[in-house]
Order: sequence, then C-alpha cells, then structure tokens
Amino acid sequence: MPPETSQLSLTLLSLTLLFIFSSATIPLGSTLYASNLNVSWPSPNGTFSVSFIQDGPSAFFAAISYAGGVPVWKASQRAVDSSGSFHLLSSGTLRLVNGSGATVWDSNTENRNVSSASIDDSGNLVLLGNNSVSVWSSFDHPSDTIVPSQNFTNRKALESGKYSFTLLQSGNLTLKWNNSIIYWNNSLNSSIESNLTSPVLRLQSIGILSIVDPTLPSAVIVAYSSDYAEGSDILRFLKLDTDGNLRIYSSARGSGTTTKRWAAVTDQCQVFGYCGNMGICSYNDTGSDPVCGCPSQNFELVDANDSKQGCKRKVEIEDCPGSATMLELPHTKFLTFAPELTSQVFFVGISACRLNCLVTGSCVASTSLSDGTGLCYLKTPDFVSGFENPALPSTSYVKVCGPVLPNPSSNMQVLDDRKSWRLRAWIVVVVVVATLLVLVALEGGLWYCCCRNSPKFGASASASAPAPSSSSSLQIGVSPLPSDRNLERASSSLLRPSNPN
Ligand SMILES: *[C@@H]1O[C@H](CO)[C@@H](O)[C@H](O)[C@H]1NC(C)=O
Ligand SMILES: *[C@@H]1O[C@H](CO)[C@@H](O)[C@H](O)[C@H]1NC(C)=O
Ligand SMILES: *[C@@H]1O[C@H](CO)[C@@H](O)[C@H](O)[C@H]1NC(C)=O
Ligand SMILES: *[C@@H]1O[C@H](CO)[C@@H](O)[C@H](O)[C@H]1NC(C)=O
Ligand SMILES: *[C@@H]1O[C@H](CO)[C@@H](O)[C@H](O)[C@H]1NC(C)=O
Ligand SMILES: *[C@@H]1O[C@H](CO)[C@@H](O)[C@H](O)[C@H]1NC(C)=O
Ligand SMILES: *[C@@H]1O[C@H](CO)[C@@H](O)[C@H](O)[C@H]1NC(C)=O
Ligand SMILES: *[C@@H]1O[C@H](CO)[C@@H](O)[C@H](O)[C@H]1NC(C)=O
Ligand SMILES: *[C@@H]1O[C@H](CO)[C@@H](O)[C@H](O)[C@H]1NC(C)=O
Ligand SMILES: *[C@@H]1O[C@H](CO)[C@@H](O)[C@H](O)[C@H]1NC(C)=O
Ligand SMILES: *[C@@H]1O[C@H](CO)[C@@H](O)[C@H](O)[C@H]1NC(C)=O
Ligand SMILES: *[C@@H]1O[C@H](CO)[C@@H](O)[C@H](O)[C@H]1NC(C)=O
Repeated sequence: MPPETSQLSLTLLSLTLLFIFSSATIPLGSTLYASNLNVSWPSPNGTFSVSFIQDGPSAFFAAISYAGGVPVWKASQRAVDSSGSFHLLSSGTLRLVNGSGATVWDSNTENRNVSSASIDDSGNLVLLGNNSVSVWSSFDHPSDTIVPSQNFTNRKALESGKYSFTLLQSGNLTLKWNNSIIYWNNSLNSSIESNLTSPVLRLQSIGILSIVDPTLPSAVIVAYSSDYAEGSDILRFLKLDTDGNLRIYSSARGSGTTTKRWAAVTDQCQVFGYCGNMGICSYNDTGSDPVCGCPSQNFELVDANDSKQGCKRKVEIEDCPGSATMLELPHTKFLTFAPELTSQVFFVGISACRLNCLVTGSCVASTSLSDGTGLCYLKTPDFVSGFENPALPSTSYVKVCGPVLPNPSSNMQVLDDRKSWRLRAWIVVVVVVATLLVLVALEGGLWYCCCRNSPKFGASASASAPAPSSSSSLQIGVSPLPSDRNLERASSSLLRPSNPN
C-alpha cells in the first residue's frame, strides 16, 4: 500500500473513531473537592476522568487525567489549596474556587442554557446546551496538551508559563516566548501553505503528528513519535512543557508514567529564556539535563533556589561609570531571533564585536558568531538568554563592572593550563642549564687534557663539534616559551580597547 493511501485510511479510521466515543453525563450541581481526591467524574469506560490532582503539599489542580493519573487538561495552571472545589453550577457554568472562596477559573457559560456536562472516552469534557449542542468543551479550550481526536486549529494556543504554541493560518507551527520571540517554527512546503483554508493540527492515536486541511489531498506529517504504531493501550499526547519545549509523550494505560517520544527543539539550551535573563544554559558531564548558571561571579542568581530564574549583576553598570569592562565567554552564544535582529546585527570581527558593545551605552552583551557568517550581535537590556557548548565556535562578551571575576571552574582550568606551561618551561630551563654545565665541564676537561698532554689532540677538539650543534637544538626546544609569551601579549592587546574602530 503506498504511504499516502495508508495515511488517508488512517485518517479516515481516526475520523470514524470520533463518532463512537460514548460519554458519561455529569448533572448540574455536581461538585469535586480537593480534600477528597478519590471522587472523580469518569468517562464511560474509565479511560479519562475529571478530578483534583495534587502536586505539592498545598497545590491542587482540577484536571482531566488519563487512566493512571496522567493529566491532559487543567482548568487553570494556578493551583488551589486543599479547601478548593470544582463546581458545575446550576447556572450552567464550571467554576474552580480556592479555599478562600475566590474564583480562580470559570468557563463563563452562565445563561447559555447549559443542561448538563459530559466526559467521553476520548477525554473531552463538554458542556451541553439545549438540544445537546456543545456550548463549551475542553478540546476547544486546551491548556498545555493535545490528545488524539482533538482538533487544534489556528485560533487556539497551548500555554505553559511564558511559553505558547500556535498554528498559523499558513500551517506554520510556532513556539513563542512571552508572546514576542519566536524561537522555533515549522513551516509547510511553500508550494501548499499559502492556500490553506482551515488548517487543523492533529495527533493520531498511533503517534503521528500531522496537519490536515480541506485543500490538502492528504495529511502533511510534522513528526512521528519514536514509538509510532507500536504497542496497544498507549496514549500519545502532545504537550507544551514548562521548559518551553513541545514534546510527544506516550503513556501506557494505568501506568501513570510517561515517556518522551519527540521534542520540537532538540537542544533544550536553544529554548529562549530557559535559564532566565542573563542565565547561561549548558550541559555538564553527569547528566543529559541542562544546567543553568551565571556568566561569572560578577553575577548572582535572582532566586538562589531556582537557577532557571536567571541572574543579575552584583554591581549594576550604572554604578561603576568608567570602569565597565567586557567579560569574555568562550564557546557561548546569546540567542537571537527574528524580531530583534534588524538593529542589533553587524558584520564585524571579534574584537570590534567586543569593543562596539563596550562603547555603546545601551549594549549589555555581544556575541561574535565566528561560524563563517562574520556576524556580531549586540544585545540590549530587554532579556538576554545564553547557552554554552564546547562545540560552539562563538565567543560572547558581557558588560560588567570591573574587575572580571570568572566562574571558579573555568578559572581553575585556566590556572591549571598556565601552571602546566610554567612547569614545562622550568623543565626545559633545568635541562638546558644542566646540559650547558655538563658541556662546559666536558670542554673544560678536554681543554685541560689538550693543554696538559700534546697538541696532537686537535682532532679531539673537532670531536667536540657536536656540542654547539646540540646546544642549538636545545635552543629550538626553548623557543616555545618566548613565542607563547608573544601570543599571550598579542591576545591581551586584542582585548584592550586600544582601537576604537
Ligand atoms: C474505552 O473506549 C475507547 C473509545 O471507545 C476505546 O478506544 C478504548 O479502547 C476503551 N478502553 C477500554 C479499556 O475499554
Ligand atoms: C481514598 O481511597 C484510599 C484507598 O483507595 C483510602 O485509603 C482513603 O482513605 C480514601 N480517602 C478518602 C478521603 O476517602
Ligand atoms: C488560594 O489560596 C491560597 C491561600 O489559602 C493562596 O496561597 C493561593 O495563592 C490561592 N490560589 C490562587 C490561584 O489564587
Ligand atoms: C436559552 O433558552 C431560551 C429559551 O429557551 C432562549 O430564548 C435563549 O435564546 C437561549 N439562549 C441561548 C444562549 O441559547
Ligand atoms: C430548551 O428549549 C426549550 C424550548 O426551545 C425550552 O422549553 C426548555 O425549557 C429548554 N430547556 C432548558 C434546559 O433550557
Ligand atoms: C474534528 O474535526 C473533524 C473534521 O475535520 C470533525 O469531524 C470532528 O468532529 C472534530 N472533532 C471534534 C472533537 O471536534
Ligand atoms: C514580556 O512582555 C511584556 C509586554 O508584552 C513586557 O512588559 C515584559 O517585560 C516582558 N517580560 C520580560 C521578562 O521581558
Ligand atoms: C523558521 O524556520 C526556518 C526553516 O526551518 C528557519 O530558517 C528559521 O530560522 C526559523 N525561524 C525561527 C524564528 O526559528
Ligand atoms: C513561519 O513563521 C515564522 C515566524 O513568524 C517565520 O519566521 C517564517 O518565515 C515562517 N515560515 C514561512 C515559510 O513562512
Ligand atoms: C514540496 O512539495 C512538492 C510537491 O508536493 C515537492 O515536489 C517538493 O519536493 C516539496 N519541497 C520540499 C522542500 O519539501
Ligand atoms: C492558490 O489558489 C489559487 C486559486 O485558488 C491558485 O491560483 C494558486 O495557484 C494557488 N497557489 C498555490 C501556491 O497553490
Ligand atoms: C552537574 O549538574 C548537577 C545537577 O544537574 C550538579 O549537581 C553538579 O554539581 C554538576 N556538576 C558540575 C561539574 O557542574
């Protein structure tokens, strides 16, 4: 069977499945309490249920969960305390109330003639109006997750903290930070995207993420879950995580555990703002999870208990007029995306990239890409998100109040490097001096022999010829020391703002 046909039949299959979900009715006046997690509103065969879930000693969420306790929808990302409650009021509205009595979330469906609610085996919570029409549904109001059979259109968004995920009319998928910076996009083949009428993103239950549209002959596949079409009784879902990455997960029914199967941004450190403002994202040897840190000891964490909240200068630039200097961060890049590109990008070399930032009042940091593009980015105070990777050719600079206080680990490495150089230099010096002494002693001995015995020993004077040649080869051995010093001098003169252009 050609792949298109199989895709089509799979799509048809998932469409037909949509019509056979039965649903369980929730009458008006029903209530769930955070104090009793055992009570829930289950779907007919128990695949999904509405209930309170607990995440921390005093953090409860009204949620729809998959069998085993994996949440796929939350009424609100804000938690209520253990006295919180979730009501289907007789006025026909769903309302999440905190222990204090304050309304945390409301479906705003009062006066819409809602007669009941229902939850079906696909996980959709629906408020039904007169004549059983859907007035409101959780599928139409997604929080951070999409499940199979849910239609995600271009008028919806997944949200998680400062991050959001949308489908544009063109079929272009985007991940945004703070509703402004697009740090990931996935556009369709340009030959089809301009003419889409009502694109829908859908995750097939077998784990294929695709876009369908009436103008498309077949679904356009965005991603395959790594376990696609494998196993049975497995729920796949698409989730915008709090770390700003969009992932496909799978969860075996009843297990309560989830496994990552696909991530939109492969390198987590490339998610804008992951480590907060002025935070530097990197990986250390021990694990695969990224680590957030500050550029140097001129900075401190905004929140000592949460390194993802970013860093701030211990001394602000305004408080040290005239003594600002540039901290150098090798293998480090500050993320730069489309909206901020235009006024901040320059074609200049590495020392001008550093210097331009130092002399520009509004510049707080700069990155010389050094990747062959010749580009330098100057960053203004808004928000600076950095990442470090030994494989990155880029070098970044951060404006700080002098003196520069590098982080201990990298500092120690530098010291160690210098120490070993000095050590090697010492060995060379000792060897040279010792050899010279031995030669002097030898020559002295020979001369003593020559003069004391007979002038015939002129032949043995020529036998001493290797001595000067061996000392000259030793001088070659010494030469790395001065030339290394020259290099050091050269690089430090590059770092000095000697040339304002
Ligand atoms: C529950 O119902 C859904 C939809 O009808 C079906 O896909 C699923 O296999 C059922 N699960 C069980 C455990 O019966
Ligand atoms: C909930 O159920 C568990 C066992 O399933 C039971 O131990 C617990 O007491 C119940 N809690 C409430 C509040 O009913
Ligand atoms: C709910 O009330 C608690 C205090 O009881 C408060 O700490 C919490 O912030 C409130 N939650 C919301 C979402 O308002
Ligand atoms: C609710 O029902 C009343 C009478 O049955 C009708 O007049 C009104 O238009 C309905 N409102 C909505 C929002 O459907
Ligand atoms: C539904 O609408 C009919 C008339 O259209 C009305 O008589 C009935 O009371 C309505 N039911 C509810 C629950 O609003
Ligand atoms: C999703 O869209 C299809 C048509 O593309 C429609 O038949 C189906 O009812 C929709 N599903 C939901 C849950 O709205
Ligand atoms: C996010 O955007 C708002 C305006 O949309 C802005 O006021 C705010 O400072 C931004 N947040 C950060 C951390 O830059
Ligand atoms: C959007 O995607 C294109 C192609 O993959 C890429 O060249 C471009 O840099 C992306 N833009 C953003 C803001 O990620
Ligand atoms: C997709 O959207 C991003 C952000 O708006 C944009 O940079 C990119 O050019 C778009 N891709 C296409 C092919 O239009
Ligand atoms: C776009 O689609 C056309 C026809 O469907 C195909 O020939 C072409 O290779 C595609 N281009 C890309 C970049 O996928
Ligand atoms: C879009 O549709 C118009 C008319 O419907 C057609 O003329 C045009 O070629 C289409 N563009 C693409 C890129 O398919
Ligand atoms: C690596 O990261 C872990 C936590 O993610 C941290 O405890 C450990 O100290 C880090 N190791 C180094 C060498 O930075």
